[in-house]
Amino acid sequence: MVDQKTPAKGDTVAPTLGRRLSRRKPVEKLVAETESDSGLRRTMGFWQLSMIGIGATLGTGVFVVLGEAVPIAGPAVIVAFVLAGITALFSALAYAEMAGMIPASGSAYSYSYATMGEFMAWVCGWCLMLTYGVSIAAVGVGWGQYINELLHLTTGLVLPPALLAGPLEGGVVNVPAAVVILLSMFALLAGVRESTRVNAVMVAIKVLILVMFVAIAITAVQRGNFAPFMPMGMAGVSAAGATLFFSYIGFDSASTASEEAKNPQRDLPRAIMFSMILVTAIYCLVAFSAVGALNWNDFADGETTLAGILTMVTGTPIWAVVFAAGAVLALASVVLVVLYSQTRILYAMSRDGLIPKAFSKVDAKGTPRANTVITSVFIAALAAFIPLGPLADATAIGTLFAFALVNVAVLVLRRTRSDLERSFRMPGAPVTPVLGVLSCAYLMFSMSLSVWIAFGAWLVVGLIIYFGYSMRRSALEDEPEVDVRV
Ligand code: ALA
Repeated sequence: MVDQKTPAKGDTVAPTLGRRLSRRKPVEKLVAETESDSGLRRTMGFWQLSMIGIGATLGTGVFVVLGEAVPIAGPAVIVAFVLAGITALFSALAYAEMAGMIPASGSAYSYSYATMGEFMAWVCGWCLMLTYGVSIAAVGVGWGQYINELLHLTTGLVLPPALLAGPLEGGVVNVPAAVVILLSMFALLAGVRESTRVNAVMVAIKVLILVMFVAIAITAVQRGNFAPFMPMGMAGVSAAGATLFFSYIGFDSASTASEEAKNPQRDLPRAIMFSMILVTAIYCLVAFSAVGALNWNDFADGETTLAGILTMVTGTPIWAVVFAAGAVLALASVVLVVLYSQTRILYAMSRDGLIPKAFSKVDAKGTPRANTVITSVFIAALAAFIPLGPLADATAIGTLFAFALVNVAVLVLRRTRSDLERSFRMPGAPVTPVLGVLSCAYLMFSMSLSVWIAFGAWLVVGLIIYFGYSMRRSALEDEPEVDVRV
């Protein structure tokens, strides 16, 4: 007699909740997908990948946030940059190992899927939406402020306040923020080659203007400005470090270009490390010359800009104009590259079934067109109408969380898959990835309660979507999992 409840051979049973949350995507499957059906075109070499890393990283952090961090740490803001840089460096090394091993455009999301299972992968992908999506909107808002400053410096005019902020902040719509995001959308729709060229030019310009800043400001450095060096003690330095961590976000962007890289195993680890080293060197030099040229007490209003320092040192506004124009381009390139990265992560999540399939359709040129348009319009609307303060703060905490997971992924795969070929090995493992997790946790716990509340709220929304939609639509849902009769 056949028991009605017993599945026949070959039948699958619906996975239990526990199995759903913990199901993993094998590394071989992830790699095979990137090699076969990705549809994206492989056009990028080491330089393009590095330009992506630098393009996404060098931006608001050094152009704007530095001025806000000096009153918190004093001249020791240089140490705060180093502290944030060390945290980022551990994670950069972990990214280099993972990206060389699993060159999937989902980046940290895909690494988590391979090591910690679907639920953690979703949480990671959801955090990355905060990292990328919300930070684009925040950078877009910052871009509007620089456009206004440039307009003011060159013509004496300013944009009407109604067009510089959304309705919840006393304005009508933040036009510049939406414009820079939509312009970036058009560059991305023109194709990867075209957008990487635009990006390379913008990166060259922003590196040059920061070098110009250092060359001018360093002539005015006074030894006395460095004493007292740490007026707020170590607490001030770590609080500033947590704030400045934002300036390192983006080195990981190169890993989202994995499926468009000609030789990701060789070039990605090198591009990630090169971007990190160059960016850290620039930050420390800019911070040193800024606090050396202007006493830290003069930053007290939190509104001192690097352009203002140039005017003070040279006595003419010409350099400030050049700098502000460069900053406009610099921030636009952050928007362009980070938008690119966001679309690639969504592409990977869509391929896995966790978000709608429209996000993984690519056109004949290899551009995920619908994905790019939907993502850009959504983020442009966010930037145009919503005040981003709390969510922008939560960006860094979400990123730290995702970075910690990449360090955990290194630890897990070193234990479980020591057989896999690694084109780059994180030096000092397992100590370094453990330090990577601890340093991310340290900066997370340096953040204020309100940031944690915003982050918690973001996670709750993510969980509702996962349990309400993604979990049952996962591509792994249909995989035969339990074959009852052997
Ligand atoms: N690191 C990027 C910036 O500073 C997000 O703008």
